Amino acid sequence: MSQLVVALDMPDKTAAMAMAGRLREADLAWKPWCKVGMELFTACGPALLESLNKLGYKIFLDLKFYDIPNTVAGAVRAAAAAGVHMLTVHCQGGERMCRSARQSLDALDAESREGSLHNGQALLIGVTALTSFAPGEMPGIALTPAAFAVSLASKAAGWGLDGVVCAGVDVKKIKLASPHLRCICPGIRPQGFEAGDQRRSMTPDKAAAAGADYLVVGRPIVAAADPVVALRSILESIASQPRMT
Ligand code: C5P
Repeated sequence: MSQLVVALDMPDKTAAMAMAGRLREADLAWKPWCKVGMELFTACGPALLESLNKLGYKIFLDLKFYDIPNTVAGAVRAAAAAGVHMLTVHCQGGERMCRSARQSLDALDAESREGSLHNGQALLIGVTALTSFAPGEMPGIALTPAAFAVSLASKAAGWGLDGVVCAGVDVKKIKLASPHLRCICPGIRPQGFEAGDQRRSMTPDKAAAAGADYLVVGRPIVAAADPVVALRSILESIASQPRMT
């Protein structure tokens, strides 16, 4: 079954912890995952990660690292050592950058087996095409976002990544080519919820049925009149879906 990750896209620690606490207190059949992205991490820093871990959350740190291989290797190491369970790099950083991130995580895992730092492997995930891109909007890239995402995903599988961030509509093609690659899908919109800046959206039930491993949902939950009701409704809709992959 797909896991549901709540994107805590909020301006400060007080707001984020209030939301995280409220969702944890509710009686829900949910393995609690949250996403900390660039807004919240820039405002709060790594101390927030510890607070969320203490609340029982697994953390997806989505900072989309994109830099020279040595710099990304260091950033990945720092993120994993801070106790996150999943983190992102840009596939567009290319093979050497992605492999360098992989090596950095593997070296950290070897150290943790020897009793220091982070306990347990973080998933290394590559961003393909942002779900906010409509066809023709990607600067300098002639492919459609779908074709670009599928092409990058097949490369990412060979570069040592554990999964990719992609639109729900790309999951079937990606899984067909690389069945072991995890698909992390943002751009999730329950029926009737406004798309906002997203351009390649899918409903949670359809993304779950397509085989998405993780659904990343922000505004449909955190901006809902009642976030607990919204989370419960999405959990119910994905629980009832047989996976097609
Ligand atoms: O509010 P909404 O549900 O659109 O939030 C989606 C989340 O997923 C945001 O935190 C955004 O940064 C993230 N994301 C995305 N598209 C990607 C990668 C990450 O929307 N390709």
